[in-house]
Amino acid sequence: MAELLLPHNSRISGKRQKNTIEAKNKYCFEIYRYNPQSNENPHIDIFEVDTSKCGPMVLDALIYIKDNIDPTLTFRRSCREGVCGSCSMNIDGKNTLACTKAIEQNHKTTKIYPLPHMPVIKDLVPNLNNFYKQYKSIKPWLQTDPQQRKHDNREIHQTPEDRKKLDGLYECILCASCSASCPSYWWNPEKYLGPAILLQANRFIQDSRDTATKERLEALDDTFSLYRCHTIMNCTQTCPKGLNPAHAIASIKKSVAQN
Ligand code: SF4
Ligand code: FES
Repeated sequence: MAELLLPHNSRISGKRQKNTIEAKNKYCFEIYRYNPQSNENPHIDIFEVDTSKCGPMVLDALIYIKDNIDPTLTFRRSCREGVCGSCSMNIDGKNTLACTKAIEQNHKTTKIYPLPHMPVIKDLVPNLNNFYKQYKSIKPWLQTDPQQRKHDNREIHQTPEDRKKLDGLYECILCASCSASCPSYWWNPEKYLGPAILLQANRFIQDSRDTATKERLEALDDTFSLYRCHTIMNCTQTCPKGLNPAHAIASIKKSVAQN
């Protein structure tokens, strides 16, 4: 099993490798590299790209680099339209989606790191095992009364008002940008659930069709799971989908107090 390194805790070697190609419209990408199968420390590689030869987004440039300059460059992506959440990374200091982040043409340099304070598997790929374990812990599915369902097997209706309560919650794509931007989550990633998972928890707490609201709130009512949120607001500032995890956490705290 390869050793996992935390990018912000590990020493960057300072080694810079320059990969040059013919470029009319040169743009530099400084990219964090770490290969667990080599003995090298993590370092930054600089890639020069002719941006007229690739699409307008940072993900397009990464794909161009992988296809044309360095096939070992490793990153996650799938939908390339802000739906799957796979391509979240730290671009110029902000956690966001590479596929919806445009290349800043007037900067001429973009710095790309993996999501901060997460173990790195390789290059821009963080290990999200703990994140998904926490997601599973909130039971992210509708729980309904089996007795009631036995007698009445029709679909469960919602009023337009009840359905509206899910707006701002169901759109979350679990990209983890918000959790990886939260200092409380950096210090207690095992015990504090973090903004993304708490927003997801609220999505089921608010659902009028769910009958386990009381149990869900009781499960969150301990010192760490919910109350490590200190309203720092990095989560809301960084969310590439424009959601407000801080508001969702405040809503859960209110519901716990009223439970
Ligand atoms: S709330 Fe936003 S930043 Fe957080 S996981 Fe969901 S989509 Fe990503
Ligand atoms: S590739 Fe799916 S969100 Fe970016």
